[in-house]
Amino acid sequence: MVTSDYTHIWDCCCDHGLLGAALLKRHVAPHIHFVDVVPQLMSELEKKLQHFYLHSSSSWQIHCLDVEALPLEQYEGKSIVIIAGVGGDLITQFVTAIHQSHFTTPIDFLLCPVYQQFTLRQRLIELDFSLKDEVLIEENRRLYEILLVSSPAKTDDKPAKISPVGELIWQTNTDEEAKVATDYLNQTLNHFQRMQQGGDYDVQHIIDVYRSVSHKHNIYIGSRND
Ligand SMILES: C[S@@+](CC[C@H](N)C(=O)[O-])C[C@H]1O[C@@H](n2cnc3c(N)ncnc32)[C@H](O)[C@@H]1O
Repeated sequence: MVTSDYTHIWDCCCDHGLLGAALLKRHVAPHIHFVDVVPQLMSELEKKLQHFYLHSSSSWQIHCLDVEALPLEQYEGKSIVIIAGVGGDLITQFVTAIHQSHFTTPIDFLLCPVYQQFTLRQRLIELDFSLKDEVLIEENRRLYEILLVSSPAKTDDKPAKISPVGELIWQTNTDEEAKVATDYLNQTLNHFQRMQQGGDYDVQHIIDVYRSVSHKHNIYIGSRND
């Protein structure tokens, strides 16, 4: 989902930097930035990158800092900010902070939240972000939503709206995609139903919207024994 439209790719919360390194290998952008808040991780990563990518045709840079303080304004050209493998609540907080500090700069975000996808989508809608693409992926038997979104920009194009529960992710073309979508919908509904039964939160409105996905996209919901 990372096209060659970007001058800067920011692999945020990069941990061991596997994602950024894969993009570096693909020469997909002239500059790749690795960002994480843990100094030891970053010094180890720097050594690895110096060893493997010293003469790479893409330049790379290490930033040991909080994602909320990304210095995007210091770099000219279009940026994509990638945040993957972090809780949806935290991603919501990061995206809000980055957008607030760079209010007039159009930025694309590629986001892969672990849980709290509904909260994240809700905030992106409030911030008037638009959707470029969204997919479901399965990795190590876990299912993830990946969202490619843009901050609001002055353009004549009519931007695509972000759905609170997703739209493209339910439109499947192959049996495999249909299975992933069915499993993901059931898993998500079970999660919110358990939460509703727990009695601490009222999430009935969320359950209702996910149920409407089942009707709209003809996706089976229910236990495997039904
Ligand atoms: C589970 S790892 C993410 C892994 C990687 N992005 C991936 O998808 O494989 C979470 C990382 O987020 C980093 N992190 C957490 N809060 C952060 C913050 N405020 N700013 C920068 N990095 C942060 C942690 O240090 C940790 O390395």
